[in-house]
Amino acid sequence: MTSRSSLPQLTVGWDYSPFATKRTGCSISDTILFMNPDEQPSTQPQFDPIKEAKRSKLEELRKQMVNDKALPLKNSNLVFGEGNVNAEVLFIGEAPGFHEDVQKRPFVGQSGKLLDKMFAKIGLPRRDVYITNIVKRRPPENRDPTPEEIEAYKPYLAAQIALINPKVIATLGRFSMNYFLPLAKMTNDHGKSTTLDGRIIFPLYHPAAALRAGSAMRAL
Ligand code: URA
Repeated sequence: MTSRSSLPQLTVGWDYSPFATKRTGCSISDTILFMNPDEQPSTQPQFDPIKEAKRSKLEELRKQMVNDKALPLKNSNLVFGEGNVNAEVLFIGEAPGFHEDVQKRPFVGQSGKLLDKMFAKIGLPRRDVYITNIVKRRPPENRDPTPEEIEAYKPYLAAQIALINPKVIATLGRFSMNYFLPLAKMTNDHGKSTTLDGRIIFPLYHPAAALRAGSAMRAL
């Protein structure tokens, strides 16, 4: 049985301290354990018809996106998302970057490496969560996604969330946070959970912000 005390907790002062919150004294690992204190991640692959049905519906959705001529940013690859289709925690970033576009996988570049470190630190295997983005194609030069692009991808993200049906949505960065909580401000609201439509929304700094800010972030 997993107990709170047996897992490492993220606290302010780690290399990736932006992922923790000083304000509430609670962290993403607290939130995950709070949601699911007794379950260990399963290591035995077993045939699960409900999971398979979900997987195939998600694949159908991916194909619909590939064939949707109206979606913007057609010059880059579709990075649909990946992970456990039954995940209790869904991480949502902003938009793919260069490496994500090449590999067609979310968070595989520098930001992804930092995210992986956070997963290791909180004892949460990456394969147990699902990871995707608000906008699923790379904007040119990694510019911010526009409101029109966010709007265009919205129905697909909504369908993806409904299919995965996570208990917790951990947003990575401002665009993802404001998608769910339009009035939230990162400095004020990161690490504070809000319940929205029956799910916990847990805003986190974007790993790229942590990479950029480094010690400045730790000082916060
Ligand atoms: N930044 C994001 O927001 N998403 C990715 O997939 C990679 C970097």
